[in-house]
Amino acid sequence: MSSYNMDRSHRVVINTAHTRWQPSPAKGVWRKPLEREAAESGQVTSIVRYDANSAFVAHSHPNGEEIYVLSGQFEDEKAVYPAGSYLRKPAGSTHSPKSPEGCVLWVKLNMFQLNDNDFININSHEQSWSAGLVDGLSVKPLHSFGLKNTALVQWQAGTKFSRHVHPGGEEIYVVEGVFEDEHGSYPAGSWIRNPAYSQHSPFSTQGCIILVKTGHMV
Ligand SMILES: [Fe+2]
Ligand SMILES: [Fe+2]
Repeated sequence: MSSYNMDRSHRVVINTAHTRWQPSPAKGVWRKPLEREAAESGQVTSIVRYDANSAFVAHSHPNGEEIYVLSGQFEDEKAVYPAGSYLRKPAGSTHSPKSPEGCVLWVKLNMFQLNDNDFININSHEQSWSAGLVDGLSVKPLHSFGLKNTALVQWQAGTKFSRHVHPGGEEIYVVEGVFEDEHGSYPAGSWIRNPAYSQHSPFSTQGCIILVKTGHMV
């Protein structure tokens, strides 16, 4: 597959619970593409599944790799990363990933800003929630650089957030529960890419946890 969903002026919503796993170059490693520049290079966002005892060839990340471990346990020569781990491997880093027990990951490749060179390995399950901007919202910050922010946000059932603009765009992956706004309802596994200067009034009737990135689409 060549370029897919790369016009970031367009809103995209994909419920990955309803899309098919596609084979990768490595046996036992599967992907659900969300956006990609080219078949095996450039900017890519995808959900990746490692079957138990699978591995991916040693590779480098010319412009960085960002990972959130959704389930199972991911591993490379540096460490073992349980579910809830948020990882950043900066430009030029290399590794040989594998997963003895199997795992599912959210992965973004080759989108690091210049000089964002920190290796990050956070186990979000060991972080505590901080109060968010309105009652019922709580936050675990994961990464900030320039105008870009990445965080986990928990919505208690019945939480409503004010209408707001995303000057640098917004990308959301629904980890648990159901996230909503006036445009739709997004169950766990949904990926939403809201373009720069889009607006919405989000809420969650039943509660949810979302992984959110803002400021990276300018
Ligand atoms: Fe990698
Ligand atoms: Fe938003």
